[in-house]
Amino acid sequence: MALFMVVLVLLFILALSVCTALLRWNELKFSKKGLPPGTMGWPIFGETTEFLKQGPNFMKNQRARYGSFFKSHILGCPTAVSMDPELNRYILMNEAKGLVPGYPQSMLDILGKCNIAAVHGSTHKQMRGALLALISPTMIKQQLLPKIDEFMRNFVSDWDNKIIDIQEKTKQMAFLSSLKQIASVESTSIAQEFMPEFFKLVLGTLSLPIDLPGTNYRRGLKARKIILTILKQLIEKRRGNQESHKDMLAYLMSKDDNNRYKLSDDEIIDQIITILYSGYETVSTTSMMAVKYLHDHPSILEELRKEHMALREKKRPEDPIEWNDLKPMKFTRAVIFETSRLATIVNGVLRKTTEEMELNGFVVPKGWRIYVYTREINYDPFIYPDPLAFNPWRWMLGISK
Ligand code: HEM
Repeated sequence: MALFMVVLVLLFILALSVCTALLRWNELKFSKKGLPPGTMGWPIFGETTEFLKQGPNFMKNQRARYGSFFKSHILGCPTAVSMDPELNRYILMNEAKGLVPGYPQSMLDILGKCNIAAVHGSTHKQMRGALLALISPTMIKQQLLPKIDEFMRNFVSDWDNKIIDIQEKTKQMAFLSSLKQIASVESTSIAQEFMPEFFKLVLGTLSLPIDLPGTNYRRGLKARKIILTILKQLIEKRRGNQESHKDMLAYLMSKDDNNRYKLSDDEIIDQIITILYSGYETVSTTSMMAVKYLHDHPSILEELRKEHMALREKKRPEDPIEWNDLKPMKFTRAVIFETSRLATIVNGVLRKTTEEMELNGFVVPKGWRIYVYTREINYDPFIYPDPLAFNPWRWMLGISK
């Protein structure tokens, strides 16, 4: 028994020494004069686990220890985190000085090499132009709004007297409504195969890029392959028949003068994945939080209902919500702004240095990621008095409550 205890203690000491040595080795690997303060965690993994598990608390703890500009190693990259509003503004406004979008390798691999996050300069301009054309005011009026109206009526039509899992439903809503915008007619038939693969793709984009069986990264890459096959078949099928379509895919595929951006099939597919991806987590979580906040604040729900009922009174039940209906919906807009502020779905954005540079008196080496962390500004009591309160009236100029 005594021998067993000795072996156990020795093993424990050995494990502790190995861990300390690995942590120390990783710190030394990234030690360079002038780097921001901070810790780099474990070799390869860095501090990814803490970052994903603790979320905003990880950032707050590190800021308390190292100040508002510190280093870390997350999602496979050495990263400088900026929580300083002035520095954040400078970084976001200086793409030309070598501060370009810098999303994690897992995201770039899974979303594709033509994805807007993966391209810079003139290609980025071209991709952004093609995306913006899909959401121009004309497209919103003629295609997006009528389809959203039709989709939502259908989607909520059987919710009465049922217990609804809002998290599950808002995820489905965000994905299916985007799919309908992309491929109106075929969306119902491809959704069943597409949706589970899309969810795996999303998980894969926020993982360490380690291509081993059982990892989210491997599952994400596999899901991308299946999605590529579905979308390629869809494009071929449309080319093979003469039916005309009015949706985003039709616009991206069209070769007439209305479409300034003639994209290759690979670019079209990566654009579609971008639209689905960008609008998924953002819209689903914001909608879910709106339901929660309205549930927790019955008087705000009542005010919102009043605005909607006043609008509906002027319409027949089957009439859709239209572009001109949106402008007068001031309280609805305030609820959306307040939900976006309080829920803060996007904590920040990622940039990358194309050369070594000095920021706030520290050196950031070439190729490092910069996490421009903007979350805290939404809870600044000087900008938003009583910042943790859900108060849509704060967005209505001259009306306070
Ligand atoms: C609550 C909803 C949303 C939030 C909070 C949000 C937030 C953001 C943020 C913060 C960025 C900047 C990323 C960066 O600079 O690195 C961004 C970019 C982008 N978003 Fe959204 N987004 C939302 C909805 C959507 C939707 C529905 C779409 C799909 C049509 C979309 C498509 C995009 C695209 C394509 C970009 C990249 C633009 C570029 O690189 O030029 N977003 N979004």
